[in-house]
Amino acid sequence: MRFFDYRDGALYAEDVPLADIAEAVGTPVYVYSRATLEHHYRVFKAAMGDLPVHICYAVKANTNRAVIATLAALGAGADTVSEGEIRRALHAGVPPEGIVFAGVGKTDQELAYAISVGVRQINIESASELNRIAKLAEQMGKVQHVCIRVNPDVGAGGHAKITTGKADNKFGVSFELAEELYGLADGLPGVEPVGLSVHIGSQIIDFAPMEKAYQKLADCVLRLRARGLKVTRLDLGGGLAATYDETVKGPDLAAYGAMVQRVVGHLDVELEFEPGRMIAANAGVLVSRAIVTKDNGGKSFLVVDAAMNDLIRPALYEAYHQMLPVKKADDHDNLAPLDVVGPVCETGDTFAEQRPMPAIAAGELLAFMSTGAYGFAMASTYNSRPLAAEVMVSGDQWQVVRPRQTYEEMFGMETLPDWLGNKT
Ligand code: LLP
Repeated sequence: MRFFDYRDGALYAEDVPLADIAEAVGTPVYVYSRATLEHHYRVFKAAMGDLPVHICYAVKANTNRAVIATLAALGAGADTVSEGEIRRALHAGVPPEGIVFAGVGKTDQELAYAISVGVRQINIESASELNRIAKLAEQMGKVQHVCIRVNPDVGAGGHAKITTGKADNKFGVSFELAEELYGLADGLPGVEPVGLSVHIGSQIIDFAPMEKAYQKLADCVLRLRARGLKVTRLDLGGGLAATYDETVKGPDLAAYGAMVQRVVGHLDVELEFEPGRMIAANAGVLVSRAIVTKDNGGKSFLVVDAAMNDLIRPALYEAYHQMLPVKKADDHDNLAPLDVVGPVCETGDTFAEQRPMPAIAAGELLAFMSTGAYGFAMASTYNSRPLAAEVMVSGDQWQVVRPRQTYEEMFGMETLPDWLGNKT
């Protein structure tokens, strides 16, 4: 579901023509739809029925504070993986007791910060981390709730680079070690083990691997309880797919909810989820302007003013993003193969190869759809290209939620060493 549609041949974000935003703010620009964000959050929550759930939006998908705040206003917590993300979530109005801190390599500084602000839970990924958290918390006179992240040896997801649940991936610990750490944590004064967490991958459509992982988790809960240990929470991670290609059916959320209910519903635990992509992907588009068209080697190229630094997913994961002209031409349905590329000096800076597309002339606008997740969040200034502007739309209103980076902001903080004259 997304609130980006054509009206009289013009592509709108909710009730705002994208062309108006591009005209006012310039391109490339990310445009987010508040209604789409809210819709996805509500749909996810509804799919869980009466289960006791705490939904922690995975901030990494789209870190803009306006996005986090939109979801926080609906009661969402935050799944975070760095001190920076915790700080963003707090700034955006997520209370500390709504924040889960996860990640495979948390530094002592990050852990101390998380404990000091009183995050809801830290997901532990190694024995060393457990000991460090326990020590830091004890020094601060605190008791930190922790979950142990298991690696269920079940892989899933749209691409090898985003699979996280296989035994040879870096994430989590084996069930054997998880059970050992749980017992250990139970005896340490600085921590209180409250449950287990799992996350096996991203862009998952088929729930079979998730069901397998959750079942292993449920079995583990019973083993822990049999030892007299208390388990009150299960963090079931994120990973649900977003619909990138409207011709491919997306995940059936009601079926997901039913599966969760069936596999872990009887355990009398609070359930946590960490959806990122499923909430944010279709809530954003990247609007760019065509710079030039050219033919090379028998192929037609369209060079646009967005590049791999703005949206790296196609280059990194061969990801598909639908591309729509912001203004439909009269011969919109007359398609011809086109390579859509950015201006960066790498052949990898390619958004689509030989994609059947309507003709787009230099100067016209093109929207990259479903780029609200892992779009701006993964952007860089490669080729010294400023970070794009970000805009949020709500009904017929819109506002810049992050202005385009200036050149001063991009390199003004760099200094020359003394031996080069130390001139600013
Ligand atoms: N929880 C944990 C522990 C995670 O590692 C992730 C994503 C999530 C939740 C959220 O997953 P989601 O619901 O968004 O699938 N940059 C890649 C995706 C990387 C996902 C990393 N972990 C992409 O653009 O496809």
